[in-house]
Amino acid sequence: MNDKRYGHFDDQHREYVITDPKTPWPWINYLGNEDFFSLISNTAGGYSFYKDAKFRRITRYRYNNVPMDNGGRYFYINDNGNIWNPGWKPCKTPLDFYECRHGMSYTRITGRKNGIEASVLFFVPLNTFAEVQKLTLTNQSNETKKLKLFSFEEWCLWNAATDMENFQRNFSTGEVEIEGSTIYHKTEYRERRNHYAFYHVNAEIQGFDTDRETFVGLYNEFANPDAVVEGKPRNSHAHGWSPIASHYIEVELKAGESKDFIFLLGYVENEQDKKFVAPQVINKEKAHAIIEKLNTTEKVDKAFSELGKYWDALLNIYKVNTGNDKLDRMVNIWNQYQCMVTFNFSRSASFFESGVGRGMGFRDSNQDLVGFVHQIPPRARQRIIDIASTQFPDGGCYHQYQPLTKRGNNDIGGGFNDDPCWLIFGTVAYIKETGDFSILDEMVPFDNQPGSEVTLFEHLKVSMDHVIKNLGPHQLPLIGRADWNDCLNLNCFSWDPNESFQTTENKSEGSKAESLMIAGLFVVTAKQYVELCQKIGKEEEANRMQKAIDAMVTAVKKDGWDGEWYLRAYDFFGNKIGSNECEEAKIFIESQGWCTMAQIGAEDGMVAKSLDSCKKYLECEHGMVLNNPAFSKYIYEYGEISSYPEGYKENAGIFCHNNPWVIIGETLAGRGNDAWNHYAKILPSYVEEKYQTLHKVEPYVNCQMVAGKDAAKPGEGKNSWLTGTAAWMWLTVSQYILGIKPQYDGLQIDPCLPTTAKEYTVQRKFRDAEYDITIKNPNSKQYGVSQVVVDGKAIEGNTIPYAAGKHTVEVTM
Ligand code: BGC
Ligand code: NOJ
Repeated sequence: MNDKRYGHFDDQHREYVITDPKTPWPWINYLGNEDFFSLISNTAGGYSFYKDAKFRRITRYRYNNVPMDNGGRYFYINDNGNIWNPGWKPCKTPLDFYECRHGMSYTRITGRKNGIEASVLFFVPLNTFAEVQKLTLTNQSNETKKLKLFSFEEWCLWNAATDMENFQRNFSTGEVEIEGSTIYHKTEYRERRNHYAFYHVNAEIQGFDTDRETFVGLYNEFANPDAVVEGKPRNSHAHGWSPIASHYIEVELKAGESKDFIFLLGYVENEQDKKFVAPQVINKEKAHAIIEKLNTTEKVDKAFSELGKYWDALLNIYKVNTGNDKLDRMVNIWNQYQCMVTFNFSRSASFFESGVGRGMGFRDSNQDLVGFVHQIPPRARQRIIDIASTQFPDGGCYHQYQPLTKRGNNDIGGGFNDDPCWLIFGTVAYIKETGDFSILDEMVPFDNQPGSEVTLFEHLKVSMDHVIKNLGPHQLPLIGRADWNDCLNLNCFSWDPNESFQTTENKSEGSKAESLMIAGLFVVTAKQYVELCQKIGKEEEANRMQKAIDAMVTAVKKDGWDGEWYLRAYDFFGNKIGSNECEEAKIFIESQGWCTMAQIGAEDGMVAKSLDSCKKYLECEHGMVLNNPAFSKYIYEYGEISSYPEGYKENAGIFCHNNPWVIIGETLAGRGNDAWNHYAKILPSYVEEKYQTLHKVEPYVNCQMVAGKDAAKPGEGKNSWLTGTAAWMWLTVSQYILGIKPQYDGLQIDPCLPTTAKEYTVQRKFRDAEYDITIKNPNSKQYGVSQVVVDGKAIEGNTIPYAAGKHTVEVTM
């Protein structure tokens, strides 16, 4: 294996430092925390949008381009005919020095060439609809330098989907305005649109361009735009075609001199009656205000330090010190960071998700918020309400909704029978973190219909009922369109190559297709529901649901067990899936994960056997595969899963999302060594050195899938960033391995450790309390707390009763 390295962690600065621009795949970062977002690669590729990557795309991006990752915010430096970019691309002029530092919601890219250093800090200030690009040019040579600087952004005509299709219209609609050093993009602002974007620099400019072909030249590339090569802007004014924004600045730098230029890419919305100041002249008041806020180095530096403080506060809520850097940096920095990103983006915009296809997933968002709820609980609260508002009165749900409108997505519809359970999962995590039971009394509509409001608690109840009312012949949950595994399409039956497996008609009438994954998920979440009901005095409801749990457990033990592992499902006709009797895919991970988490049949040795089978059949060098053996042929009754090549995606890929389910199962069984081994295999910092080239994608975050043992290229990672893996890795390590579990009445300490773990500390802010926890494991135990001492006094059991203020906690295993 090639042991070339492309970068390394810098924990002190909470950064990943990329030292070679030619990473095996673009290694990206996210800017923005709430409304205005950008994706930025290590060569400054990517794009920006406001709230919704489909409907409010600000800059254009062409996915899967040649060369890869072409298009972004580019600075061209023409140093006496020598043309280069600080991030290497798009000119790809070899640099004397290159470095990209991806940090918490910011990226700093530095390039040096012939005695000039260009360093750009990219970030979105808090509460601001703009990306700041602070460019610092430094003359490190001994002579005065005269440079020609060109900026470049290409506008997207707002709807990222039609922007890439409807050219008969698009090529005639583009409009811009230029005012001083600011270029305004106002396409379609005439009629229904009330938003525009702008690109500004806080310096006098000596020229500009706004028409792409004039600037670049029709037969050129981003690497050699006419204007830049000639060193002369065209002062072009775009009418239709493809509007861009480019500033031209002549810079003189004496030996040792340094100058800052603050570029701002901003977004503005105006009230309908305040759109214009004169016929066809846009109202720029709000743009001016953003510029005014950020037009000096001092103001920008202050905004940047505020962003740093914001992340300090977020990352101070849970801090571990184990002395193992690889673990500590994932827990303290990157895993939590990725959780915020998945909370913000669901599965919408990454370098694998185009931002036009999928909105917020019902199940995805409930899981994502569990990884984020400790950071900013009020945002998780709002998200729960938004998600629940897309539910139907019978407990079924829209599978996705659009973040801008918050409406259920009709293209995909509903019928995924695991969806309702996840609402319990998300809501319970929120209440345990905050102690805020009032969320249960919030009035929440069905399908966003005014007048249909019931309490959130009622939504939880219909969610549970949706499972109970949809049981199949074995009294196991009917799967519907699919359960968590979108690709196990048991009621789809498609031979039509033009039909999407996800959206094809749900032919479930008369279906016997049942899911053991939902059975396990139901038992786990129904137990949470019962505990919640007891907590709020709904004893009768608790008893009712306990009976349903008991029945489900009985059904799984009777018809869901295959001898060495849990079955995966029954198909439409009632045949077993994931059984030793099957020709291929004899065992699946999802039901092992959920039924072991539910501890179904633990007393009969089922849990231990299932976990052992995962080790025996699913585990490989890179993690646990989804099923084994892989499908080698398409099975009409199973759908998409059997259509993927062996070892990829849901067909025996290491679908990282579900590995933590088994790992949590391991911890609940007290098997700390096994849990840790599985965990470390998919922990980015553990594979960082070993797989810089093989793995391909970013070594600082989890990806959705790593090719499995049956794949042509095992170990290759794909679909980085936007995956439920982030939240599950967080839940696993923070609550089940390190063992700090929020409960309604306090913080439970319940670690499950590898025998090598001797001692560690956790600082945990919890509601209005702060706990300084030291956990000692003198006898190398894997599981079981023997003593908890709070503020010098031993307590009974292992749950620290909640009390505001600072506390010292000593725990002995
Ligand atoms: C993918 C899934 C994804 C689904 C929905 C499938 O092709 O394999 O991972 O969830 O599409 O878009
Ligand atoms: C990705 C989807 O976002 C998620 O909802 C699904 O559970 C997994 N793929 C597995 O198919």
